[in-house]
Amino acid sequence: MSDDGYVHGYSSRENRRLVDQATTLVELLHWDTRFPADTDVLEAGCGVGAQTITIARNSPRARIKSIDISADSLQEAQDRVARAGLTNVAFQRADIFDLPFAQASFDHVFACFVLEHLRDPRAALERLKRVLKPGGTITVIEGDHGSAYFHPDSADARRAIQCLVDIQASMGGDALIGRRLYPLLVDAGFEGVTVSPRMVYADASRPGLVDGFTRKTFNAMVEGVRDDAIARGLIDLATWDRGIRDLYRTTEPDGVFCYTFFKAVATA
Ligand SMILES: C[S@@+](CC[C@H](N)C(=O)[O-])C[C@H]1O[C@@H](n2cnc3c(N)ncnc32)[C@H](O)[C@@H]1O
Repeated sequence: MSDDGYVHGYSSRENRRLVDQATTLVELLHWDTRFPADTDVLEAGCGVGAQTITIARNSPRARIKSIDISADSLQEAQDRVARAGLTNVAFQRADIFDLPFAQASFDHVFACFVLEHLRDPRAALERLKRVLKPGGTITVIEGDHGSAYFHPDSADARRAIQCLVDIQASMGGDALIGRRLYPLLVDAGFEGVTVSPRMVYADASRPGLVDGFTRKTFNAMVEGVRDDAIARGLIDLATWDRGIRDLYRTTEPDGVFCYTFFKAVATA
């Protein structure tokens, strides 16, 4: 994929969303993301560094190389990591499909919310496997928008979410990729594939999740495709507005929102 063919875009609003998402989900996704001292880790598709901060902090003695195809995102990631005072990360502009690294250069690969945007995620995994040392590990984290369900339920809200799924598919991505991580990793030649579903459950007793995940991560992501969805005729404006209203309705005191991420670990 080129650096301009990405469903969520590179706006400052989207960059804020990625950081909100990472901050809210740190414990759920990363309590067990740890890389040992003196190992080389490749972070593929680091974006604005939202996950980089966590992996660098959690593994202070690992050497992390974070790559992205977008120069602007890399610059922002670099600034963010510097502001956090972390010194174990180096950045490089690179394409996952054309990696500028020798075979067997890394002990670990980490890729979060990247495969869902790629036309050929299996080929991407094969490329990443090549730069892993034999016995090295890969950690992949992806969402799956089909795993979103909520109370009160709403057909209009489900239609709005489906617009995002359809637009991402039309750009060659797969917003339902979480459920495919196991077969993708097996097909790419990895061994010992273990997938751990991580469910977000947000009700009024967890205001941090309601705000950080339901409002600022999930709803903001769906809202981001409004103009595109209308322009493509995927939905009419009235249905869209009702759908978005109903998504926010789930953040009220009697509302509930559920979503599942999938975290896979496998060996090269
Ligand atoms: C949704 S963002 C995720 C960023 C980060 N991992 C996070 O979780 O916040 C996906 C990132 O993958 C990058 N990307 C997409 N295709 C790529 C490719 N072929 N090579 C390297 N990076 C790529 C995009 O530029 C974008 O920054």
